[in-house]
Amino acid sequence: MNKNCAVILAGGEGTRMHSQKPKVMAELLFKPMIDHVLAAARKAGVDDICVVTGYQAPILEAHLAGRAATVRQTERLGTGHAVMQAVDYLRTGDFENVLILNGDAPFMDSSTIAEALAYHERRGFVQTVISARIEEPYGYGRIVRDFNGDFVAIVEEASADKETKKINEINSGAMWFKKDALLYLLSRITNENSKGEYYLTDTVGIAVNEKMRVGAYTAKNADAVLGANTRVQLNELNERLRHKILNRLMLSGVSIPCTDGVIIDNDAVIGPDTVILPGTIIKEGCEIGENCVIGPGTVLYKTKVASGSTLNQVQAEEAVVGENARLGPFVHLRPNTVIGNSVHCGNFVEVKNSTVGDHTSVSHLTYVGDSDVGKGVNFGCGVVTVNFNGKTKNRCVIGDDAFIGCNTNLIAPVRVGDRAYTAAGSTITEEVPDDALAIARNRQQNKPGWVIKRKPYRDKKY
Ligand code: UD1
Ligand code: CA
Repeated sequence: MNKNCAVILAGGEGTRMHSQKPKVMAELLFKPMIDHVLAAARKAGVDDICVVTGYQAPILEAHLAGRAATVRQTERLGTGHAVMQAVDYLRTGDFENVLILNGDAPFMDSSTIAEALAYHERRGFVQTVISARIEEPYGYGRIVRDFNGDFVAIVEEASADKETKKINEINSGAMWFKKDALLYLLSRITNENSKGEYYLTDTVGIAVNEKMRVGAYTAKNADAVLGANTRVQLNELNERLRHKILNRLMLSGVSIPCTDGVIIDNDAVIGPDTVILPGTIIKEGCEIGENCVIGPGTVLYKTKVASGSTLNQVQAEEAVVGENARLGPFVHLRPNTVIGNSVHCGNFVEVKNSTVGDHTSVSHLTYVGDSDVGKGVNFGCGVVTVNFNGKTKNRCVIGDDAFIGCNTNLIAPVRVGDRAYTAAGSTITEEVPDDALAIARNRQQNKPGWVIKRKPYRDKKY
């Protein structure tokens, strides 16, 4: 079976971004624009992808390593010239159709791509351009149709006359080609225009002249064509996408009483009756159950939170939180942390690479690192698992229902048994057996009258 492939154009500098990075690395909801474009192609079923890099190519090549093939365009001579760099890639693969995408148009979506392909195949076109009708066509290539409504050319802004400039159907930059037709048309493009560039869009006029069948598929989603040339436009795209996602979540039962500073990745799964409060950022790979309260000021990344939990001013990365947990304010969960059901972590608590059993309470100023904590444990204020000796990391094990006194240092590797106590201020270096109390601190001595002999440090009256 013949396959389809995609060539994504991403060589441009994007001068107006004023960036040291390739333009397509500019971020939309924390993901480079190129990643949105790649995801749309993949979701439309196109897995063979070649990205044309150019400005700051090594940055983009490193970013794409293992995810897409790349070819370099060493000089920026236009979109047609960019596609020419992928000719060897196209020749060596057994492809029937080629999808061209602009790396700086992150709103192109998989349904539009798939619908355009269906249209392209049904009509037997050699080239199908994805177009859209928009209110402000300035800057885009215009779709020119003849008196029958047949698509005959794309005219760029720079070459457009007054009448052409009025056309509000524009070229999205995305198009499907039959591979053989694309290879032929590329060989026919010239740079005889005011900018001296090889325009990919000239392929349409050439094909029409040679009686090849071309078409324009008008996207139902006109937003699919939007791109960003400046950071102001990037902010507009961010806001559009942000509100689109928030609106979808609200319509599915998530409460967001105030959307200020709330940014949620499109892939987030959030259950009904969960409330998201201002300043909450939910990045990729998060799942949140029902009836949770997330925020204010909470940042989650690749984190799962089960139903009924409250996360107030929490930062969590690659963590799992059970049901009815109460976290915050000011809690940091670092990677590989599993928090059980009904756990409480309070002010200034950090947990890393640890499991914390159900009903355990870690209320204040505590570090739990590389530890396995049982159920129903109570941590006093200021406990530290001393997991690093300067060379290696070691684990602490704390049994069920243990009671760790305030300011205990647990020098790993060490185990505190089930139901065992440590006295406040202890530095625990040896195993504490089940049901034992460990006291590891100096006994207090009082020296009566010592201050009078020494003379008090403050002798003035207030
Ligand atoms: C292009 C289209 C225009 C369309 C618009 C949609 C052409 C000539 N014009 O214009 O009809 O309406 O997209 O957004 O195709 N690139 C390279 N190498 C180059 C030049 C560009 O890789 O030498 C890449 C850019 O990084 C970008 C894409 O091609 O991702 C489009 O190039 P850009 O210069 O932004 O074209 P537009 O002026 O937007
Ligand atoms: Ca552009």
